[in-house]
Amino acid sequence: MPNYFRDYFDRTDARAIYKMAHYLDLYDRLLGPWQGRPDIAFLEIGIFEGGSIGMWKGFFGSGAKLVFADIDPGCRRFDEPGIEIEIGDQADPGFLKALAEAHGPFDLIIDDGGHMMHQQKASFSHLWPHLKDGGLYVVEDSHTSYWPGFGGGFRNPASMIESAKDLVDRMHSWYTDEDDRFPLHPAASQVGSVQFHDSVIVIEKKLKEAPVLLVSKDGKTTRSRRMLEIRGRKSIFAPDEG
Ligand SMILES: C[S@@+](CC[C@H](N)C(=O)[O-])C[C@H]1O[C@@H](n2cnc3c(N)ncnc32)[C@H](O)[C@@H]1O
Repeated sequence: MPNYFRDYFDRTDARAIYKMAHYLDLYDRLLGPWQGRPDIAFLEIGIFEGGSIGMWKGFFGSGAKLVFADIDPGCRRFDEPGIEIEIGDQADPGFLKALAEAHGPFDLIIDDGGHMMHQQKASFSHLWPHLKDGGLYVVEDSHTSYWPGFGGGFRNPASMIESAKDLVDRMHSWYTDEDDRFPLHPAASQVGSVQFHDSVIVIEKKLKEAPVLLVSKDGKTTRSRRMLEIRGRKSIFAPDEG
């Protein structure tokens, strides 16, 4: 079904669900290939009135590992067979560690929790290692990065948006001439893409080695890292590759 998320919103029930309208089309585009996949491990931070539980359950189908976390102990009332409810603070490293150890690694993590900068950044940094290769980390309502009351503000270096922009640089840290100022960052070998949608950040995990240029000519294909070597990125290469 190409419009699963939009259609789901027309089938309301007693549990309210909160999503900005344009997230629904984004999720249909982004997650379409994962619909009905029982092998998916999914985590959403932020339960509130429980409405999104049915949406994700219906999307992935029975058999998927579905985990929902919230700071409000009252959310335990949404406990039901086939899903896991965990109560804790998304900014607490101890809670995040226990959550990941109990249920990870995950294919898809959605942060729809408190939306404060310190919460989003703590959750991302502690849960990122527990995202699978090929998995997606989604930060909803990233417009709070522009709200001082949430720890953000325009170009505030403490905001989640600014951290995600840094990640764009780090993902490209293979390619610089400025070895001292811009050292190779581990994100270069872990981040496949950083997508900025209106109010949603999507970070794709892709484990990879230093990029290779392929040249194909006269029936022969050669591989080269010369593009990186000539920029003096010695730190990238093992001595025998230099
Ligand atoms: C926007 S609502 C979640 C809505 C739900 N995902 C939906 O789609 O309908 C935000 C939830 O985050 C929870 N929350 C706020 N601060 C949190 C924190 N520090 N850790 C975990 N959850 C938190 C709130 O209790 C609230 O239930």
